Amino acid sequence: QRFYDIAVIEGDGIGKEVIPEGIRVLEAAARRHGFTLRQKWHDFAHCDYYARHGRMMPENWKEEIGKPAAIFFGAVGWPDIVPDHISLWGSLLQFRREYDQYVNLRPVRLMDGVPCPLSGRRPGDIDFWVVRENTEGEYSAIGGRMFEGTEREMVMQETVMTRKGVDRILKFAFDLAQTRPRKLVTSATKSNGIAITMPYWDERVEAMASSYPEVSWNKFHIDILTANFVLKPQIFDVVVGSNLFGDILSDLGPACAGTIGIAPSGNINPEGEHPSLFEPVHGSAPDIAGRNLANPIGQIWSAAMMLDHLGEKQAAADIMGAIEMVLKQPSLRTRDLGGAADTQTCGKAIADLLA
Ligand code: NAD
Ligand code: IPM
Ligand code: MN
Repeated sequence: QRFYDIAVIEGDGIGKEVIPEGIRVLEAAARRHGFTLRQKWHDFAHCDYYARHGRMMPENWKEEIGKPAAIFFGAVGWPDIVPDHISLWGSLLQFRREYDQYVNLRPVRLMDGVPCPLSGRRPGDIDFWVVRENTEGEYSAIGGRMFEGTEREMVMQETVMTRKGVDRILKFAFDLAQTRPRKLVTSATKSNGIAITMPYWDERVEAMASSYPEVSWNKFHIDILTANFVLKPQIFDVVVGSNLFGDILSDLGPACAGTIGIAPSGNINPEGEHPSLFEPVHGSAPDIAGRNLANPIGQIWSAAMMLDHLGEKQAAADIMGAIEMVLKQPSLRTRDLGGAADTQTCGKAIADLLA
């Protein structure tokens, strides 16, 4: 018998609606493939916890979580109760840093049956990975407010790029490209305007590329890169970017491929010293929360990425097959895909295909 300890954190809003669908599918996959997921659900890292305790997580959250094989995460944020930077720095961003999940891996794929907002695009035309730096860069806590309330009032925030931090994300991207037929890395830069950190990023890209003679590479400034996501998505294979650029590209990419509602991600610590965390790209969606309207596929695809990471490759592939089947059925599509199916109907249909 194979056992995996999984920490489950629902978070806020539609996190509480899509996590149960992800678990439903994981359990169906586990039954089919003869392994067991030992789940430990954590009632923290959500804004109601903050309302009760004045913080997002207990002080001993690391002990509470222990050493799971992976963390299965919904979405956090309820800005009516807690300002977003407080709730996110108190939960998700802490996990990414404390567990050194320096890779944020986000596939962008146009799936059969999904209406594409770009004209004339078919499945196969959009199929690439966004590799996002996940622990440093523009997301820094270094900086501050000064001279508050005076006419000299100012704020500043430093971007931090370390050689280790930049090189390790680039290495991951080049290694990934090497496994792909096209073997192409595209780097997101802005070295024309952001004149210290981004030229450094470019230098490290060039240095890394020199150790990968079989991988080709190019770079675009982030402004034209976003335009090319829309105009020429077929030219991308592996796109690597800093924390902020990767964040933006990983909403834009899935939107170009139909919806952010199906987009998954892995926050990965490749060395396996710490647990990796799997979550949809989207957030808690307060505008549709509590109405059973959310597309659960981003969470379910994240479950497939998690099983793949745990070595359950066939189970992961079966979930992907079930997702593909369901997306082809108009009656099973949720509202973001132009359908009328609710969250549970879509989730159950995927789980049933695995039974
Ligand atoms: P969002 O991703 O929550 O929502 C953006 C839009 O996409 C909304 O119109 C929403 O209804 C729609 N949408 C998102 N997921 C969907 C799904 N599964 N099915 C159908 N429609 C879906 O982004 P936002 O509105 O910028 O943020 C809302 C809150 O979530 C904020 O507190 C934000 O900080 C937080 N957030 C958290 C995460 C995370 O936990 N990883 C990610 C992004 C945003
Ligand atoms: C994401 C989210 C987070 C990020 C927010 C909620 C802090 O947008 O996972 O993409 O910016 O990393
Ligand atoms: Mn984002």
